Amino acid sequence: MLHALYTASAPGKIILMGEHAVVYGRPAMAVPVHQVQATATLTVQDGASDLWIAATDLGQRTALSSAPPVNPLAQAVRLTLTFLQRAAPAGELSVHSTIPLAGGMGSGAAVSTAIGRALAAWAGQTIPAADLSALVYEVERLHHGTPSGIDNTVIAYGQPVWFVKGQPPQPFAIPHTFWLVIASTGIASPTRETVGDVRQSWLADPLRFEGLFDDIAGLVNAGRAAMLAGDWPRLGALFFQNQRLLAEMGVSAPILDRLVDAARLAGAFGAKLSGGGRGGNVIALVEPSAAETVADALRRAGAAAIFITPVSAGAARAALL
Ligand code: PMV
Repeated sequence: MLHALYTASAPGKIILMGEHAVVYGRPAMAVPVHQVQATATLTVQDGASDLWIAATDLGQRTALSSAPPVNPLAQAVRLTLTFLQRAAPAGELSVHSTIPLAGGMGSGAAVSTAIGRALAAWAGQTIPAADLSALVYEVERLHHGTPSGIDNTVIAYGQPVWFVKGQPPQPFAIPHTFWLVIASTGIASPTRETVGDVRQSWLADPLRFEGLFDDIAGLVNAGRAAMLAGDWPRLGALFFQNQRLLAEMGVSAPILDRLVDAARLAGAFGAKLSGGGRGGNVIALVEPSAAETVADALRRAGAAAIFITPVSAGAARAALL
């Protein structure tokens, strides 16, 4: 039996500022997180009768030919094959991810991106980032209903992205490296639910919510300027303000408030929830020398997992190679 192996990966991501308001046309900023990765490995086996898709972390194994359309892994495979104009290879596609499943770091989009890249490698093709992003968006719709598109964009491009729904994403340069402590609550909170709740509240009081979204847009614009200037105390203050507005929108939670307070007391420049909220992650902007102290404080306040990550132009360039 002949074997050939094709492996590809994709990073996780973090939304810096602008979540939820981005669904309503306001800007958001997100960056890839390369410490965590989804990996897809395709083993082509002559003589095999199907393509088996193995989610090794979940202990699941499904044959492509009988997987239902709601299976996101099978959907990523099918959409990619259609794009590549190829029939499915026979063998096994195994998927593994170190991105926390609790949500907020784009594990679903990263898995789909890795699958797209592994199949493209097998077909001897490269899928342009814009097409890969569009394909992953289609898969994301299975989980999220009406996602803004920020996850698939930042992950498929592998670069920091300034994102406005319906407009071409603008990758942006990060002239000065900064450090984030990412604290995962370990609590899975479906984005579809928090987005749905915000929609209900917006329908009930559109004026107030449009005002909140506008205020967030102002913070995101100011955040971009602070980032370009390397003004971390300012960017941190904007994180805290963004967090207050997210709490007003009803998407924070006691554990998230506790983690933000712990980061503040431990000396972080700023902290906020990142992503859909209720569970998921808190990000804290820190001086590198304070990262361990803030990480310890977050652990004591109940974080289930911690990542300390630099966000830099270098990381963006590496992802483009
Ligand atoms: O929870 P995440 O990281 O998938 O982010 C959701 C971000 C929202 O703005 C709340 C929804 C969206 O589709 O952009």
